[in-house]
Amino acid sequence: TPATTESPNGMKFAAVAPNTEDKVVIPDGYQQAIVIRWGDPVIPGAPEFDFNKQTPEAQAKQFGFNNDFAGLIPVDGVANHYYLVCNQEYTTELFMFHGYKENAPTEAQARIAMAAHGIVVVEVAAERGTGALTPVIGPRNRKLDAGAPFTLTGPAAGSDFVKTSADPDGTTILGTIANCSGGITPWGTMLSGEENYNNYFSNASKVTDPKAAEHLKRYSFEDDADNHHWGHFEKRFDLAQEPNEANRFGYVVEVDPHYPSSTPVKHSALGRTKHESANIYVIDSGPDKGTVVAYTGDDEKFEYIYKFVSSRKIKSGLSARARAENLRILDEGTLYVATFTGEPADGTGTLPKSGKFAGKGSWAPLLTVGADGKAQSHVDGFTPAEVAVFTRSAADKAGATKMDRPEDIEPNPRTGKIYCALTNNDKRGTEGKAPADAANPRNENKNGQIIEITDNHTGTDFTWELLLVCGDPAAADTYYGGFDKTQVSPISCPDNVAFDPHGNLWISTDGNALDSNDGLFAVALDGDRRGETKQFLTVPKGAETCGPIIGNDRVVVCVQHPGEEDDHSADNPASHWPDGGTSQPRPAVVAVWREGGTIGT
Ligand code: FEO
Ligand code: CA
Ligand code: CA
Ligand code: CA
Repeated sequence: TPATTESPNGMKFAAVAPNTEDKVVIPDGYQQAIVIRWGDPVIPGAPEFDFNKQTPEAQAKQFGFNNDFAGLIPVDGVANHYYLVCNQEYTTELFMFHGYKENAPTEAQARIAMAAHGIVVVEVAAERGTGALTPVIGPRNRKLDAGAPFTLTGPAAGSDFVKTSADPDGTTILGTIANCSGGITPWGTMLSGEENYNNYFSNASKVTDPKAAEHLKRYSFEDDADNHHWGHFEKRFDLAQEPNEANRFGYVVEVDPHYPSSTPVKHSALGRTKHESANIYVIDSGPDKGTVVAYTGDDEKFEYIYKFVSSRKIKSGLSARARAENLRILDEGTLYVATFTGEPADGTGTLPKSGKFAGKGSWAPLLTVGADGKAQSHVDGFTPAEVAVFTRSAADKAGATKMDRPEDIEPNPRTGKIYCALTNNDKRGTEGKAPADAANPRNENKNGQIIEITDNHTGTDFTWELLLVCGDPAAADTYYGGFDKTQVSPISCPDNVAFDPHGNLWISTDGNALDSNDGLFAVALDGDRRGETKQFLTVPKGAETCGPIIGNDRVVVCVQHPGEEDDHSADNPASHWPDGGTSQPRPAVVAVWREGGTIGT
C-alpha cells in the first residue's frame, strides 16, 4: 500500500513553530480563552483577586497557584456542565509577592502559599458553539489545600511510621501538597500524585534516629530542599519536632467531586514515592474482566515505574452505588515494580542493530493487600507497612530498573498500550551513577524519551519500545518512531501525556532544552506515520505546559509558572501573560477550540 500522505485524524492542523513569544500560540483557524487563573474566585464569597492585597482568607476561596494536571468529569444530571478538577502543584513566592525575602516568608505569605496548594474542584459550563468553559461559582466547588483532612487507607494506615502528636492513630492526614499529574478514573473520581513534598519540611538534618534519617535521605529530604519554610509557622512541617509527618505525603490521592463534603483518600496500597500520576486500565475481556490496573511513576532521577493490580472487579456504571464500591478498589490488590531488559546501550543514543530501542520486561511483586485488609510483603526484611511507606527502598531490594525520571504514565484507551514520559536525566552515566541501559539509552540525557509498554496487564511480563528519543531532530541521538525526522516538530523534556479521541498520543513538555518555549504535541502511534510529531501550541515565556485534556470540542492546557525565568521576580516580571500590559503573570487554565469544527480533523 502506498504511504499515507496526510497526518491521521486528530492531527490535521498546521504545526506551530518553535518560538519564544509571551503568549499561547495556537494553529491557524483555532481560538482560545482563559478558563480560570490564579486568584480567580472559586468558593462563593471569594473576593476579586488583588495582587497587592493578598490574604490567606482570600486565597482559601480563590484558584490556587501553578495548575498542573486538569480533568473534566461530567456533573450528574446537568448537561454540558463539568467538574474541572485541577492540581495546584507548588508556589513560587518570589513571583507571588513584591519584595519577597527568600527563605524568610512572613506568616501571611506562608499561609497564602498553603492555601494556594492542593486540589481544586470548579464547576464549569461548556458554552454552545465554542470550546470555552465558564466557571460556575456555587456549592459544587471545593478547595482541598495544605490543611484539608484526608483519610489514609492501606497498610500505612495506623502504622507507627505515620503517627504524630496531632494524629496518634495515624489515619487522618491534614493536606495534600505537591500534586503533580493525575488521572480520571472510569468511575468518575480524580487521582492525583503527591510529588515534591520534600520541599516543604525543615530540619531533616536534626532527625537523629539512624533509620528515620536514612529513609528521609532516600526521599531527598534535606535542609536545603525546604524552599517554603512552613515549619516556622506549623510545627508539623518541622522534622525535628514531627519526623513522621514526612511519611504522610507521597501517596496517590483520590477525590470524589460528586460529593463536596466527602473526605478524600490517600491510598497507601499504591506505595509511597514521588508519584507523578496514576492512571487506570480496566481489563475488558477474559477471566480477568473488570480487574483494574493502576500505573504510576516516581519522578526523580533513577527512580522506578510501578503498577497496582486490583483483586476486586470494577462495578460498572456511574451510579452513586457503583462509585462507592469502586472507591475501595485501589485498596485491595498487588503492587509491582518494573525491570526493563534489552540490548546494551553505549550511552550515545545510537540505534541498536535491530533498528529499534526495544526489549522485554518483568514486574516484581512488592506488596499484596487482601480483602480483609491483611497484607503480605514480598520483600525480605520489609513488613507490609514498610513496603507501603518506604516503597523506594523495597523496590531497590527488588532490583528494579532505574529510569530517567518517570513522569506521567497512562494507558491508551484504544490499544491498552502504556506510555510513560521519561523527562530527562542529566546525571545518567556520570560519576557514581547508573550508566545508560536499553530503556534509558543516553548518558547525560537532556531531552528525555517516551517509552511504550505492551503489558500483560494482570501478569508479570511485558515488552517495550521507545516511541521517541527526544531532542533536535537533526541530531544523530534522536529517534521519532522511525518517521522522517525532517518532517517533525522538535520535542524536548516530555512531562504529561494524554490521548485524543482518535487514539493519538499528546505530550506536554516541561523544560524544553531546545531554545523554544514549552509546548503541546500530538504524536501518531500507528501505521506508516508512527512517530510523526506535531506541535499544537506553545505556552508563554518561562512557563511549562501541563493539563492536558484532548477532546473533539476543545483542548484544555494548564499554563504553569509563566514568567518564571532566572533573574526575574514579581518586582521584575519576565511575562505579562495572560492579562497583558504591565500586569503580573498568573498561572491559568486555557481552552482552545477549532472554529466551526472538530479538533485536528
Ligand atoms: Fe511536577 Fe514531575 O513534574
Ligand atoms: Ca510533571
Ligand atoms: Ca495524563
Ligand atoms: Ca512538571
